Amino acid sequence: MAKITTSTFHDKKALGEKITVLTAYDFSMARLLDDAGVDCLLVGDSLGMTMLGYEDTLSVTMDDMIHHTKAVRRGTKNAMVVADMPFLSYHVSDEEAVRNAGRFIKESGANAVKLEGGIAIKSRIEAILAAQIPVMGHIGLTPQSVNVFGGFKVQGKSEAQARKLIEEAKLLEALGCFSIVLECVPEKLARLISAQLTIPTIGIGAGSGCDGQVLVIQDMLGMYTAFTPKFVKQYANLKEIIENAVHYYCEEVKSGQFPEDKHTFKMDDEVIKKLY
Ligand code: KIV
Repeated sequence: MAKITTSTFHDKKALGEKITVLTAYDFSMARLLDDAGVDCLLVGDSLGMTMLGYEDTLSVTMDDMIHHTKAVRRGTKNAMVVADMPFLSYHVSDEEAVRNAGRFIKESGANAVKLEGGIAIKSRIEAILAAQIPVMGHIGLTPQSVNVFGGFKVQGKSEAQARKLIEEAKLLEALGCFSIVLECVPEKLARLISAQLTIPTIGIGAGSGCDGQVLVIQDMLGMYTAFTPKFVKQYANLKEIIENAVHYYCEEVKSGQFPEDKHTFKMDDEVIKKLY
C-alpha cells in the first residue's frame, strides 16, 4: 500500500472513494491501525480525555501532543499522520501558530496539522499554509469552544448557523485546507456542504454524506465507556475482553497457575547448587 498524502485525499474525493480516519495516541495502536489499512491517523487532542483523564480537551499542552504524535509516527508506515493543535497553541498570534505547527512537523514527524475554527482563525491558517504545512480544518462542534457553546451540542440546526457553517467550509477550502472535519452537524447540512466542496469532508456525528469518517478509537473499540455519544458505533467491546483477561490473570497469579514451566528460563543445576 502506498503512503497516503494530501493528494490521496484529493483523489479519493474525485473518485468518490470514502476516506477512513481514526484517532491514535500511541505506538502499538498506531501500528495496528496502520496495518489494518486506515488512511489517516489523527492524533486528536481528545487524548486529553482518553489518555490523560481530563474532562475536556482544554488542558492539553503542545508537549503532550508532541509526545503522543512522536509515538504514533513511529508506529505508522502508510497512513497519513495529522496532529491536532491544542487549545492556545494557535490563538495568540500567527507567529506562535506557525512555530507550534512547525514543531509538529520537525519534532514529531506529523504530515499535517488540524485547527478548530473558521473565519476567526483565517490568518492563522494562511500563515501555517505559507510555511508549507498542510492544514485540516475543523468546524461544527469544535470541542475547544465548549465553554462558548455551553456544552457539547449539535451545531448548524438553525438557518443562520447552517449558513455560517457553509460559509466557513467554503472559506477553509478557498484558503487551501486539504480537508475539513465536520463534527456534530445535521446529516442533511453535512451532505450539502460536502457536495459544494472539492476538498473532502471528514464527518464525526455528521452522517453518511461526508467524504470520509473519523471516530475516536477508544469509542469504537468500546474501551472508553464513561460516555458514549449517539454517533458512535462500537465495533468491539474491548472493555469486557480486557476486564475478563485481567480477571483470569489475577486469579491465576494468586492460585499459582501462572507462570507455567513454558514461561520460565532455565539454568545449569550445577550453578544453582553452588548458590545454596
Ligand atoms: O480530538 C479529536 O479526536 C478530534 C476528532 C474527534 C475529530 O478532533
